[in-house]
Amino acid sequence: SKQFQLAIGLDGIAVAESDLSLVDGLNGLLVYRGYWARDLAIHHTFEEVAHLLWYGHLPNEQELSALKNQLKQHRDLPEHVKGMLRLIPADVDMMSVLRTGVSALGNDSYGWPPTLEQVISVTAKMPTIVAFRYACLQGREPLDPHPELDHTANYLYMLKGTEPSHAHVRALDAYLILTQEHGMNASTFSGRVVTSTESDLISAITGAIGTLKGPLHGGAPSEVTEMIEAIGTKENAEPWLRNKLENGERLMGFGHRVYKTIDPRATALRVVAEQLSGDDPWFDLATHVEQVGLKLLAEYKPGRKLNTNVEFFAAAVMRAVGLEDDLFTPSFAVSRVVGWSAHILEQAGSNRIIRPQLNYTGKMPE
Ligand code: CMC
Repeated sequence: SKQFQLAIGLDGIAVAESDLSLVDGLNGLLVYRGYWARDLAIHHTFEEVAHLLWYGHLPNEQELSALKNQLKQHRDLPEHVKGMLRLIPADVDMMSVLRTGVSALGNDSYGWPPTLEQVISVTAKMPTIVAFRYACLQGREPLDPHPELDHTANYLYMLKGTEPSHAHVRALDAYLILTQEHGMNASTFSGRVVTSTESDLISAITGAIGTLKGPLHGGAPSEVTEMIEAIGTKENAEPWLRNKLENGERLMGFGHRVYKTIDPRATALRVVAEQLSGDDPWFDLATHVEQVGLKLLAEYKPGRKLNTNVEFFAAAVMRAVGLEDDLFTPSFAVSRVVGWSAHILEQAGSNRIIRPQLNYTGKMPE
């Protein structure tokens, strides 16, 4: 039978043309629509960068205030979604709850083709779903979204129950901006595949959340903090990491399919984490673990060019703003929904169903 060109893991294969982002893995560069992601994280806000990705340009004052208002108007959850979130057993992990909560939003108002209003609506509701569930788990009544606060500040407010400091909002904003978009990563691909069948936006985002959840993609940061906790002391770092590598296991927060040099998001987030952490012994231990990890990866995996990835310092930033481990990956989803939806709009705008091939290696009938 006919054999097709084989690219396991679709490594090195482009499946679309896109105006949204450039991930240059050899030079460690990340561009969103003509701007360095690093500069956007320093000088702009969640809403401004979302506007850039969705509409193609940074907003003027009027456009920004219109987008902020739209997001605020869409933050509340339908009653049936709140009821469902209360019913899910406490031992179901937060990403599964987010996936179910988003899925429950699905109705005719999110039908094909996806629109900017739909996209804004789901982006606005995702932080509310996470914070609602988090409050339920803590045994307190969930807070309504705060009408005066912008997207990131409101997310922190709903999670913690108090208005966050400016420093915490800026730090989390930097993280959420740096992770809004990242080329054809696995979850974005999932979203595009679903959209390519002319299915609805909620189905596409639900698929993307399920894809992000895995530890090889968005599930890594909580495993980074678990690793640092398990290591416990600087002296234990080398034997602990060596033991992992001897057993053929992966070190979380290192390595990337595209980056063969330092992940530029890790570089930017390291600075943010440093500023917030001061002389926090946890951060001191984390940077030691990073150094030992890099040394041992060069020894055990020579020539693979394994570096620290975004998840390593994402864990440090989220921990420093007071988010617990089970909020790390959901917070990643709260940000990446912007990139997913920008891709979904792009895919829908010039669609062809994504339908690759496989090479059959089974038997033929006698
Ligand atoms: N620890 C130890 N060895 C590693 C690691 C690691 N973290 N990452 C890659 N390798 C080894 C791998 O075993 C392979 O070795 P060999 O050539 O002997 O078979 C070699 O390096 C190449 O790895 P690969 O599996 O071909 O790389 P990939 O592009 O398929 O996987 C990855 C990329 C991110 C899944 C992988 O590096 C990994 O599992 N890292 C740990 C999990 C993690 O931190 N994930 C977050 C990724 S960044 C953000 C995101 O995508 O959400």
